[in-house]
Amino acid sequence: MIIGFLGAGQMAQTLAPVWLRAGHRVLLANSRGPASLADLVATLGPAASAVTPPELAGADVVVLATRWDQLPKALAGVGPLTGKVVVDATNNFVDDKLVDIGPRGSSEVVAELVPGARLVKAFNHLLIRRLGTLHDHAEPLALYLAGDDPAAKAVVAGLIRDLGGVPVDTGRLVEGARRWAAGGVLSGHDHPLTGTEAEALLAGHG
Ligand SMILES: NC(=O)c1ccc[n+]([C@@H]2O[C@H](COP(=O)([O-])OP(=O)(O)OC[C@H]3O[C@@H](n4cnc5c(N)ncnc54)[C@H](OP(=O)(O)O)[C@@H]3O)[C@@H](O)[C@H]2O)c1
Repeated sequence: MIIGFLGAGQMAQTLAPVWLRAGHRVLLANSRGPASLADLVATLGPAASAVTPPELAGADVVVLATRWDQLPKALAGVGPLTGKVVVDATNNFVDDKLVDIGPRGSSEVVAELVPGARLVKAFNHLLIRRLGTLHDHAEPLALYLAGDDPAAKAVVAGLIRDLGGVPVDTGRLVEGARRWAAGGVLSGHDHPLTGTEAEALLAGHG
Protein backbone atom coordinates (compact mmCIF):
# COMPACT_ATOMS: atom_id res chain seq x y z
CA MET A 1 0.00 0.00 0.00
CA ILE A 2 1.15 3.56 -0.64
CA ILE A 3 0.69 5.72 2.45
CA GLY A 4 0.92 9.49 2.04
CA PHE A 5 1.54 11.90 4.89
CA LEU A 6 0.36 15.49 4.77
CA GLY A 7 2.89 16.82 7.27
CA ALA A 8 6.30 15.25 7.77
CA GLY A 9 6.90 16.07 11.42
CA GLN A 10 6.90 13.93 14.56
CA MET A 11 3.79 11.91 13.69
CA ALA A 12 4.91 11.06 10.16
CA GLN A 13 8.48 10.34 11.24
CA THR A 14 7.21 7.97 13.95
CA LEU A 15 4.68 6.01 11.87
CA ALA A 16 6.57 5.89 8.56
CA PRO A 17 9.50 3.68 9.66
CA VAL A 18 7.19 1.06 11.16
CA TRP A 19 4.98 0.94 8.06
CA LEU A 20 8.04 0.80 5.81
CA ARG A 21 9.27 -2.22 7.80
CA ALA A 22 5.84 -3.79 7.24
CA GLY A 23 6.38 -3.49 3.46
CA HIS A 24 4.43 -0.34 2.61
CA ARG A 25 5.61 2.61 0.51
CA VAL A 26 5.51 6.10 2.03
CA LEU A 27 5.08 9.56 0.49
CA LEU A 28 5.92 12.59 2.64
CA ALA A 29 4.82 16.18 1.97
CA ASN A 30 5.40 19.34 3.98
CA SER A 31 5.08 23.09 3.39
CA ARG A 32 8.68 23.67 2.31
CA GLY A 33 8.92 21.32 -0.64
CA PRO A 34 10.46 17.90 -1.33
CA ALA A 35 14.06 19.18 -1.28
CA SER A 36 13.68 20.02 2.42
CA LEU A 37 12.85 16.35 3.08
CA ALA A 38 15.84 14.88 1.20
CA ASP A 39 17.78 13.89 4.33
CA LEU A 40 14.71 12.36 5.93
CA VAL A 41 13.78 10.19 2.94
CA ALA A 42 17.43 9.12 2.54
CA THR A 43 17.31 7.90 6.14
CA LEU A 44 14.00 6.13 5.64
CA GLY A 45 15.21 4.23 2.57
CA PRO A 46 14.19 3.59 -1.04
CA ALA A 47 10.50 2.94 -0.32
CA ALA A 48 10.10 6.50 0.99
CA SER A 49 9.71 9.53 -1.27
CA ALA A 50 9.34 13.25 -0.74
CA VAL A 51 6.51 14.75 -2.77
CA THR A 52 4.54 17.95 -3.17
CA PRO A 53 1.13 18.05 -1.45
CA PRO A 54 -0.82 17.56 -4.74
CA GLU A 55 1.23 14.41 -5.42
CA LEU A 56 -0.35 12.82 -2.33
CA ALA A 57 -3.23 12.05 -4.70
CA GLY A 58 -1.09 9.08 -5.76
CA ALA A 59 -1.34 7.47 -2.31
CA ASP A 60 -3.87 4.80 -1.37
CA VAL A 61 -4.27 6.34 2.08
CA VAL A 62 -3.53 9.93 3.13
CA VAL A 63 -2.71 10.57 6.79
CA LEU A 64 -3.40 14.12 8.00
CA ALA A 65 -0.38 14.87 10.20
CA THR A 66 -0.10 18.63 10.51
CA ARG A 67 -0.82 20.74 13.55
CA TRP A 68 -4.49 21.67 13.92
CA ASP A 69 -3.99 25.32 12.93
CA GLN A 70 -1.98 24.31 9.84
CA LEU A 71 -4.53 21.86 8.46
CA PRO A 72 -6.90 24.10 6.41
CA LYS A 73 -4.05 25.67 4.45
CA ALA A 74 -2.28 22.34 4.05
CA LEU A 75 -5.40 20.64 2.69
CA ALA A 76 -6.04 23.52 0.32
CA GLY A 77 -2.63 22.73 -1.18
CA VAL A 78 -3.48 19.06 -1.74
CA GLY A 79 -6.62 19.39 -3.83
CA PRO A 80 -9.67 17.12 -3.81
CA LEU A 81 -9.43 13.83 -1.92
CA THR A 82 -12.81 12.54 -3.06
CA GLY A 83 -13.08 8.77 -2.63
CA LYS A 84 -9.68 8.52 -0.92
CA VAL A 85 -9.16 6.86 2.47
CA VAL A 86 -8.07 9.79 4.64
CA VAL A 87 -6.93 9.33 8.24
CA ASP A 88 -7.43 12.21 10.64
CA ALA A 89 -4.53 11.90 13.08
CA THR A 90 -4.82 15.53 14.19
CA ASN A 91 -5.96 16.84 17.55
CA ASN A 92 -7.37 20.30 18.15
CA PHE A 93 -4.41 21.26 20.30
CA VAL A 94 -1.90 23.99 19.53
CA ASP A 95 1.08 24.53 21.84
CA ASP A 96 -0.48 22.07 24.33
CA LYS A 97 -3.65 24.17 24.54
CA LEU A 98 -7.05 22.88 23.45
CA VAL A 99 -8.46 24.99 20.60
CA ASP A 100 -12.13 25.81 21.24
CA ILE A 101 -14.17 24.45 18.33
CA GLY A 102 -17.55 24.64 20.04
CA PRO A 103 -19.79 21.61 20.47
CA ARG A 104 -18.56 19.79 17.35
CA GLY A 105 -16.01 16.99 17.41
CA SER A 106 -12.70 17.79 15.74
CA SER A 107 -13.22 15.20 13.00
CA GLU A 108 -16.54 16.85 12.15
CA VAL A 109 -14.55 19.99 11.44
CA VAL A 110 -11.99 18.00 9.43
CA ALA A 111 -14.73 16.21 7.46
CA GLU A 112 -15.85 19.58 6.10
CA LEU A 113 -12.31 20.18 4.81
CA VAL A 114 -12.20 16.88 2.86
CA PRO A 115 -15.62 16.56 1.20
CA GLY A 116 -16.21 13.14 -0.32
CA ALA A 117 -13.17 11.55 1.36
CA ARG A 118 -13.57 8.29 3.27
CA LEU A 119 -12.50 9.77 6.58
CA VAL A 120 -11.33 7.67 9.52
CA LYS A 121 -10.19 9.16 12.82
CA ALA A 122 -7.25 7.25 14.28
CA PHE A 123 -3.86 7.62 15.99
CA ASN A 124 -5.12 10.50 18.15
CA HIS A 125 -5.24 9.23 21.73
CA LEU A 126 -1.75 7.86 22.39
CA LEU A 127 1.38 9.94 22.72
CA ILE A 128 3.17 9.99 19.37
CA ARG A 129 6.27 8.32 20.78
CA ARG A 130 4.18 5.36 21.98
CA LEU A 131 2.89 4.83 18.43
CA GLY A 132 6.40 3.92 17.32
CA THR A 133 6.95 1.23 19.99
CA LEU A 134 3.68 -0.70 20.00
CA HIS A 135 5.41 -3.91 18.95
CA ASP A 136 7.29 -3.84 22.29
CA HIS A 137 4.21 -4.43 24.45
CA ALA A 138 3.60 -7.97 25.71
CA GLU A 139 -0.16 -7.44 25.53
CA PRO A 140 -0.84 -5.12 22.58
CA LEU A 141 -2.29 -1.69 23.27
CA ALA A 142 -5.62 -0.53 21.88
CA LEU A 143 -5.69 1.99 19.06
CA TYR A 144 -9.14 3.44 18.61
CA LEU A 145 -10.66 4.28 15.27
CA ALA A 146 -13.95 5.82 14.21
CA GLY A 147 -15.50 6.41 10.81
CA ASP A 148 -18.58 6.02 8.66
CA ASP A 149 -17.08 3.85 5.87
CA PRO A 150 -16.56 0.21 6.96
CA ALA A 151 -14.17 -0.61 4.11
CA ALA A 152 -12.02 2.44 4.89
CA LYS A 153 -11.98 1.43 8.56
CA ALA A 154 -10.84 -2.06 7.56
CA VAL A 155 -7.89 -0.54 5.69
CA VAL A 156 -6.93 1.58 8.71
CA ALA A 157 -7.39 -1.40 11.06
CA GLY A 158 -4.80 -3.25 8.97
CA LEU A 159 -2.39 -0.34 9.28
CA ILE A 160 -2.92 -0.35 13.07
CA ARG A 161 -2.05 -4.05 13.20
CA ASP A 162 1.08 -3.33 11.14
CA LEU A 163 2.09 -0.83 13.83
CA GLY A 164 1.68 -3.51 16.49
CA GLY A 165 -1.56 -2.19 17.96
CA VAL A 166 -5.03 -3.69 18.36
CA PRO A 167 -7.67 -1.82 16.33
CA VAL A 168 -10.70 -1.04 18.49
CA ASP A 169 -13.61 0.16 16.37
CA THR A 170 -15.49 2.74 18.42
CA GLY A 171 -18.24 3.36 15.87
CA ARG A 172 -19.19 6.21 13.59
CA LEU A 173 -16.99 9.26 13.03
CA VAL A 174 -18.73 11.63 15.40
CA GLU A 175 -20.33 9.34 17.98
CA GLY A 176 -17.40 6.92 18.06
CA ALA A 177 -14.79 9.59 18.64
CA ARG A 178 -16.79 10.92 21.59
CA ARG A 179 -16.19 7.56 23.30
CA TRP A 180 -12.51 8.36 23.58
CA ALA A 181 -12.76 12.14 23.96
CA ALA A 182 -12.69 13.64 27.47
CA GLY A 183 -15.57 12.21 29.47
CA GLY A 184 -16.06 9.25 27.09
CA VAL A 185 -16.03 5.63 28.26
CA LEU A 186 -12.48 5.05 26.98
CA SER A 187 -10.94 8.25 28.37
CA GLY A 188 -9.65 9.12 31.82
CA HIS A 189 -7.41 6.10 32.34
CA ASP A 190 -3.98 6.73 33.72
CA HIS A 191 -2.42 4.06 31.50
CA PRO A 192 -2.99 3.17 27.86
CA LEU A 193 -5.58 0.41 27.60
CA THR A 194 -4.78 -2.96 26.12
CA GLY A 195 -7.04 -4.16 23.34
CA THR A 196 -8.80 -6.52 25.79
CA GLU A 197 -9.45 -3.76 28.33
CA ALA A 198 -10.78 -1.38 25.69
CA GLU A 199 -13.12 -4.01 24.19
CA ALA A 200 -14.44 -4.85 27.68
CA LEU A 201 -15.19 -1.20 28.49
CA LEU A 202 -16.96 -0.71 25.17
CA ALA A 203 -18.98 -3.90 25.61
CA GLY A 204 -20.05 -2.77 29.08
CA HIS A 205 -21.42 0.48 27.71
CA GLY A 206 -23.32 -0.83 24.69
N1 LIG B 1 1.45 15.17 20.80
C1 LIG B 1 1.00 13.96 20.65
O1 LIG B 1 1.45 13.02 21.33
C2 LIG B 1 -0.06 13.68 19.61
C3 LIG B 1 -0.72 12.46 19.63
C4 LIG B 1 -1.63 12.18 18.62
C5 LIG B 1 -1.88 13.13 17.62
N2 LIG B 1 -1.21 14.32 17.64
C6 LIG B 1 -1.50 15.27 16.54
O2 LIG B 1 -0.70 14.89 15.42
C7 LIG B 1 -0.60 16.01 14.52
C8 LIG B 1 0.84 16.13 14.01
O3 LIG B 1 1.67 16.47 15.10
P1 LIG B 1 3.24 16.54 14.91
O4 LIG B 1 3.81 16.66 16.29
O5 LIG B 1 3.69 15.48 13.98
O6 LIG B 1 3.38 17.97 14.19
P2 LIG B 1 4.75 18.67 13.70
O7 LIG B 1 5.93 17.87 14.13
O8 LIG B 1 4.67 20.11 14.09
O9 LIG B 1 4.67 18.53 12.11
C9 LIG B 1 3.78 19.31 11.35
C10 LIG B 1 4.08 19.05 9.89
O10 LIG B 1 3.07 19.71 9.12
C11 LIG B 1 3.71 20.33 8.02
N3 LIG B 1 2.93 21.45 7.47
C12 LIG B 1 2.63 22.62 8.05
N4 LIG B 1 1.95 23.41 7.19
C13 LIG B 1 1.82 22.70 6.04
C14 LIG B 1 1.25 22.96 4.78
N5 LIG B 1 0.64 24.13 4.51
N6 LIG B 1 1.33 22.01 3.81
C15 LIG B 1 1.95 20.85 4.06
N7 LIG B 1 2.54 20.53 5.24
C16 LIG B 1 2.46 21.45 6.22
C17 LIG B 1 5.02 20.82 8.60
O11 LIG B 1 5.91 21.09 7.54
P3 LIG B 1 6.94 22.35 7.57
O12 LIG B 1 8.00 21.92 8.54
O13 LIG B 1 7.39 22.47 6.18
O14 LIG B 1 6.12 23.52 8.08
C18 LIG B 1 5.43 19.61 9.42
O15 LIG B 1 6.08 18.66 8.60
C19 LIG B 1 -1.07 17.25 15.31
O16 LIG B 1 -2.36 17.62 14.88
C20 LIG B 1 -1.12 16.72 16.76
O17 LIG B 1 -2.09 17.40 17.55
C21 LIG B 1 -0.32 14.59 18.60
